[in-house]
Order: sequence, then structure tokens, then C-alpha cells
Amino acid sequence: MAVVITGIGSYLPEIRVTNEDLADRIDTTDEWIRSHTGIGTRHFAADGKKTSDLAVDAAKQAMEMAGISAEDLDIIVVASASQDYFAFPATACIVQAKLGAKKAAAFDVAAGCTGFIYGLDIAASMLGRYERTKALVIGAETLSRLIDWEDRATCVLFGDGAGAAVIEYQPEETERGILYSWLRAKGEGAEHLVLTQPERTSAYTREGDYSKPSSIYMNGKAVYMFAVKAITDVMEALVEKTGYSLDDFKWIVPHQANLRIVQAAAKRFGLPEERFYLNIEEYANTSAASVPLAMAEMNAKGLLKKGDLIMIMGFGAGLTYGGTVIRW
Ligand code: UT7
Repeated sequence: MAVVITGIGSYLPEIRVTNEDLADRIDTTDEWIRSHTGIGTRHFAADGKKTSDLAVDAAKQAMEMAGISAEDLDIIVVASASQDYFAFPATACIVQAKLGAKKAAAFDVAAGCTGFIYGLDIAASMLGRYERTKALVIGAETLSRLIDWEDRATCVLFGDGAGAAVIEYQPEETERGILYSWLRAKGEGAEHLVLTQPERTSAYTREGDYSKPSSIYMNGKAVYMFAVKAITDVMEALVEKTGYSLDDFKWIVPHQANLRIVQAAAKRFGLPEERFYLNIEEYANTSAASVPLAMAEMNAKGLLKKGDLIMIMGFGAGLTYGGTVIRW
């Protein structure tokens, strides 16, 4: 009995924005962005293209690889920090309608950049019971619409994109599948990474300031320190809990937030940087989309072979963090 990833897909919007493009509009340089983050370019969704549209495109690819149709799906989970609507309806419900997944339950997960890791665990735990066998887990973001362009330390970091995985319950014995998941949160650091909102008072008296748009606020230094500790904690926990050694893992696939965070983890464990899959240079930080996007890219490049042991990891708003061990 296992829950196996049978399909993986991704979608990247067409608009590609380089560091030089940003330097034409704000006070920054390609040199600063590269040296502080490892980011070279990012993709932005065109006007009118919603997070659910990116999610649907990635989902179709994943379903094609799995050889299933939308009607086969029992569950759709969308992890996102940039949903189509604030709070409700869930973007997963919009995706469900766009795909025509008639019998699927659909809901969103709010766990920041760890959203895909959380969503994968939740969906996997729901399979194998009540006749549920197939789920679609999507990380999708249009963060470009939430950027505060006045804040040069954060506005250069983010990009749009989507990644999706089909997971299926298999009753027979198999070595493959999701082997272990470790999830944590440090809510006391929540205020360090926030989507700001107008302070709402009573809607009856209408005294709130509704004029300012929501945007991303990040205390970069605090989140950086949290992230380095989070990534090393996840790696240590997954090794301890599964009994595997880091050498057993073909790939470590971290959330792509900042190259320096990964370099710090590599140094801490004495691992070569090449053991970590990195695409931050091209896509920047796509939050909940970053891990499934990386996995889809790795699969398309033929880097994932049946039987490979991989570790995927996330850390971000919440503050949340966690990781999953998968036998591909
Ligand atoms: O996905 C969720 C998880 N997110 C993360 O893990 C992000 C964690 N944080 C970080 O990656 C880093 O804190 C940042 C990349 C966001 C910022 O790097 P930093 O080394 O902490 O920079 P800083 O904010 O301390 O700024 C250092 C200097 C400042 O100048 P002074 O005061 O030393 O003269 C900034 O004004 O760099 C300046 N600066 C910039 N210069 C050119 C900040 N942003 C920029 C910029 N271009 N875009």
C-alpha cells in the first residue's frame, strides 16, 4: 500500500523579466540581485491570466502524464499565497470547474512557500479511504500582483508559475511513493512575512482604511535566519526519522527562495551544491509553486528515474516549514 506520484506538470507564464529590466524601473542592479539571491530572471503572468489558469495548465500536464482524466479525481488541493480571490472562494474550486473534475472535493491550503509540502501530505492522508484514490496537488502563484514595488529588497525576489502533481493510492505493496512527511510551524514569527491588508474595523461604521492595496511585507533578515535553520532542521529530521543517510538521496529539492540559503545548508552538511536541484536563477521565488515546478522540470530533463530517493522541502510564511521523502 502506498501513495505514488504518477504525474507531474508545470506552467510558466510567457513574460520573462530580467534583473536588467527591473534595474530600468527601480534602484537596483543585476549584480546586487545575483550576489544576494542567485536570481537572474522571473516570469510574470499576463494581465487577465489568473492563478487558477496557471494551475489548470500545470494540472493538465500532470494528468496527461498520469494517464487520467479530470473525472477520475477525488481531491483537488491548491496551495497558494496569491489566490484568485481573497479568502473565498477557494482557487481549487475554480480549478475544479475549469477542469470539469465533477466528483472532486476542492480546497486551498495556506502555508506560504511550504504550501505544496503541506498540501501533498494532506491529500496523501485522505487517499485510500472512503473510495478516494486520486488527488491533484497544485502549487500556483501570481505573486507579481502582490509585490510592493517601493520595497527593493523584496520586489526583486518573486516570480509567477505553477506546478502540479497527481498522486494515486496503490493498494498493492510497492517500494515507491511518499515515504515520510515532516511538517512544522513557528507561528511566533508570523509577522515577519505578511500580505499586508487594510486594517478592517466594523464594516457597519466603515471606519477602516480600504484604500491601500495588499502587498508582500518581509523582514528579510529575520526570514533568512529562520530559513537557514528550517532547511537544516528538515534535513536532519527526515534523515533521523527515515533512517536514510543524506548520501542515499539522489536529489534534494529545496524551495527556491535564495541561493545563499541552500549554500548555507550544503556547507552545514558538507554536501556539494550539485546535490540540490536549483532553478532559482531562471524563475526566482515562486512560493508554493517552486517545489512542484522544480520536480516537473527535473522530470522533463530525465533527472528523475524510477526508484530514485528524493527529498523535497519548503519554508516560508507562517512561518511554516517541512519536507517529504519520496521514492520516485
Ligand atoms: O520564500 C519565503 C522565504 N523567503 C526567504 O527565505 C528570503 C529570506 N531573506 C533574504 O533572502 C534576504 O534577506 C534578502 C535577499 C531579502 C535581502 O538580503 P540582505 O543581504 O538581507 O539585504 P538587506 O536587506 O540587509 O540590505 C543590504 C543592503 C542595504 O543597503 P545598505 O543599507 O547596506 O546601504 C539595502 O538598501 O542592500 C540594499 N538593497 C539593495 N540594493 C540594491 C536591498 N535591496 C536591494 C536591491 N538592489 N534590490
